[in-house]
Amino acid sequence: MRLIPLKNDEQVSKWAARHIVERINHFNPTAERPFVLGLPTGGTPLKTYKELIRLYQAGEVSFKHVVTFNMDEYVGLPKEHPESYHSFMYNNFFNHVDIQPQNINILDGNTDDHDAECRRYEEKIQSYGKIHLFMGGVGVDGHIAFNEPGSSLSSRTRIKTLTEDTLIANSRFFNHDVNQVPKYALTIGVGTLLDAEEVMLLITGHNKALALQAGVEGCINHLWTISALQLHRHAIFVADEPAMQEL
Ligand code: GLP
Repeated sequence: MRLIPLKNDEQVSKWAARHIVERINHFNPTAERPFVLGLPTGGTPLKTYKELIRLYQAGEVSFKHVVTFNMDEYVGLPKEHPESYHSFMYNNFFNHVDIQPQNINILDGNTDDHDAECRRYEEKIQSYGKIHLFMGGVGVDGHIAFNEPGSSLSSRTRIKTLTEDTLIANSRFFNHDVNQVPKYALTIGVGTLLDAEEVMLLITGHNKALALQAGVEGCINHLWTISALQLHRHAIFVADEPAMQEL
């Protein structure tokens, strides 16, 4: 694992955006051979999306031949809801770059058959061979996507019950009312993430310090999902000083 120690979240976002752009440009994608990018939601990647949009506007990158797979989506929240991950992605990124709509993949949290939807998603990823670069954030408890503590390290895309901690943390997006936060989500699995060619996690803020410590210094274990990245040959943790205070 590579740890990129930076001063603040501004630098983390710039580093991460630049890394994505370099990977895409070096790959030189075409319609027949697209670059496959995994993407997260949450507060942490917001500045990275802003920076990616800036680099796109400056002509430094095109997303025309980039295929994206989002990590997760709430169950039962209409796509149009402002806090659905679908809305988040369009509002904060997709609407501002030249990505082609048919290249965007987001789990559908409103199907009758969640298992079938999760299978479909895994098969769609497989159809591209692999995800070239998966960017992610991390929860205070070390979760990635919605792989809550206790998630199997070999798990695949599936429905998960959100923990009380996650409901409370995410209630900030739902008028601070924990009862408005969906109780379930569809999420890629830890195994799905580990299959990516490269995984880059953005870790900022002092509230992520214990998670980063568990990821870097702790034992590999299913109670700290982040520690699973120790199994990955090309994992990058891009962290700021407040997040590194326990290292
Ligand atoms: C949610 C998302 C995760 C995200 C985490 C941390 O639970 N499902 O993908 O990494 O929150 O979010 P934030 O970046 O806002 O701290």
